[in-house]
Amino acid sequence: MKTIGILTSGGDAPGMNAAIRAVVRTAIYNNIKIVGIKQGYDGLVNGEIEEMQLSSVADIIHRGGTVLRSSRSDEFITDAGFQKALNVIDVFGIDGVIVLGGDGTFKGAKALSNAGIPTIGIPCTIDNDMGYTDYTIGFFTAVETAVEAIGKIRDTSTSHGRANIIEVMGRHCGDIALYAGLSGGAESIIVPEIEFEIKETIKKAIQGRNRGKLHHIIVLAEGVGNAYDVAKEIKENAGIDTRVTILGHVQRGGTPTTFDRITASEMGSTAVELLMGGQSGRALGIKCNKIIDLDLVEALKIKNVFNKKMYETAKILSI
Ligand code: F6P
Repeated sequence: MKTIGILTSGGDAPGMNAAIRAVVRTAIYNNIKIVGIKQGYDGLVNGEIEEMQLSSVADIIHRGGTVLRSSRSDEFITDAGFQKALNVIDVFGIDGVIVLGGDGTFKGAKALSNAGIPTIGIPCTIDNDMGYTDYTIGFFTAVETAVEAIGKIRDTSTSHGRANIIEVMGRHCGDIALYAGLSGGAESIIVPEIEFEIKETIKKAIQGRNRGKLHHIIVLAEGVGNAYDVAKEIKENAGIDTRVTILGHVQRGGTPTTFDRITASEMGSTAVELLMGGQSGRALGIKCNKIIDLDLVEALKIKNVFNKKMYETAKILSI
């Protein structure tokens, strides 16, 4: 293993920079040349590649975003684009690739690995929707952002005696809503994994009001439906003035939490070690507090399981 390439792809996630830093420094420590592939798989297709030094990753462990930039590449998934990428790998003498991203990114890693390029995946997505790992890098930072927003909205919700719906990201996964809802003390958590009953939400809002609660916080995962429709229903059926806040991309940025920095650092270092040990097609993850790696193909097959027990607990605690 003389030269390793690294790229970040898909939606960025806080902690990607910490992982890039760990990969670059572990590679250089082991006398391996490390090249940064810019803007995800697009950079691999177009040969946007630059050698990285120790100083390339100075002062980034605490920064959100990705210094390598990211994309959702349409070209890489075409036959012609993939062939161009393989040619670039050959021309630049890249012996192994480390990719940082979510399941879409990992599908690209699988294709590279199948084509004989040693490839390792590091799970980075705020959604926490990859079943083989307990947590993905960026998830807890996004949850912190959502919890901070819930706290602020709760203040104004109480002042005005309103209901407030906070829509969070997560694509088809309700984990950001669940974790932020539980730790933010939300009255209702609405996620795609559990059938949504508007009547139940309305009933809870009325019950809360009757027992003197001034605020009413509803955390809604983006995959469920339209937050404004839910607000309208509550206003019409419970008579409670309801406002909507869509948190959006604010959840994708910001300084990573300690957990995300540590996980990213450990996985970044391990990814280089795996390549040095002759491994390919491996997905890094974290299980019961331990960094693990497993076959990329197997990892992609493992479905995400929603934590119903935590959801039920949140329900009980918000009566
Ligand atoms: O996958 C991360 C994520 O932030 C999802 O939660 C969200 O649905 C999506 O990306 C938004 O993508 P984009 O930044 O391309 O609009």
